[in-house]
Amino acid sequence: MSRIVYVNGEYLPEEEARISIFDRGFLMADGVYEVTSVLDGKLIDFEGHAIRLERSLDELDMAPPMSRDELLTIHRELVSRNGIEEGLVYLQVTRGAPGDRDFVFPDPDETPATVVLFTQSKPGLAHGPAAGKGIRVISIEDQRWGRRDIKTVQLLYPSMGKMMAKKAGADDAWMVEDGFVTEGTSNNAYIVKGNTIVTRALSNEILHGITRAAVLRFASEAQMVVEERNFSIEEAQSADEAFITSATTFVMPVVEIDGAPVGTGTPGPVSARLREIYLDESLKAAI
Ligand code: PDD
Repeated sequence: MSRIVYVNGEYLPEEEARISIFDRGFLMADGVYEVTSVLDGKLIDFEGHAIRLERSLDELDMAPPMSRDELLTIHRELVSRNGIEEGLVYLQVTRGAPGDRDFVFPDPDETPATVVLFTQSKPGLAHGPAAGKGIRVISIEDQRWGRRDIKTVQLLYPSMGKMMAKKAGADDAWMVEDGFVTEGTSNNAYIVKGNTIVTRALSNEILHGITRAAVLRFASEAQMVVEERNFSIEEAQSADEAFITSATTFVMPVVEIDGAPVGTGTPGPVSARLREIYLDESLKAAI
């Protein structure tokens, strides 16, 4: 069955959705995006994603195309029209289609932003088998641009990273810069030592994960110690546990890094507990 998607003010069957070939998202990756997960037919941490979207747009001198309430209405409408119980809503805003290719930003009064939203159904997102097994990662050099805090649609290097991992028989890649892990290709990276959770501090070098913020808050509330500092692949390989977070993986254990087992080589108790707390608490607050 065809999905109903949202494009510039209209709800349409996906086959009828059209974007101009002059769209700056297509020509220049001049756009930002958000991915909000859906559990029990409800949006997880919508406000966090809306706030980060506004920040990403502001950093690129783009005005929000609509209010937060209007955005929420479209998210809910798509979840409902497509009958999504578990899955995600993808949102993309680009600087629009000025009608010619030009490096100079178009006048926003003449070229409105392009706004696209669609859903993806992912049954088993919360309670599928992956979290019980954990994932294996490889390390790769971080060759992305210097403003990784802006959630832009230029995802070619992360995509190449996933393919490098796949080729190496792993599930994902952790990127390394100047000897320290920045983050995963589409997630934030953590290690666990005893009762302490270590993750890189926020800066322009990583995306400010919405799941990261929630998980660190829940960890502190559960009397765990949170250290925001750099760590290396070697330190991660000798940690008790490792995990990643994102809107689509929640808290996902990492059981192997560059072929070396982390801890026992199986998902550890801290990651499992954090996943449980995250899912419980997020569902309670879902809208
Ligand atoms: N990716 N770091 C990067 C580079 C990411 O692309 C993402 C999210 C995260 C985690 O952010 P959050 O917790 O807000 O989802 C960290 C999304 C899921 C994606 O590109 O599909």
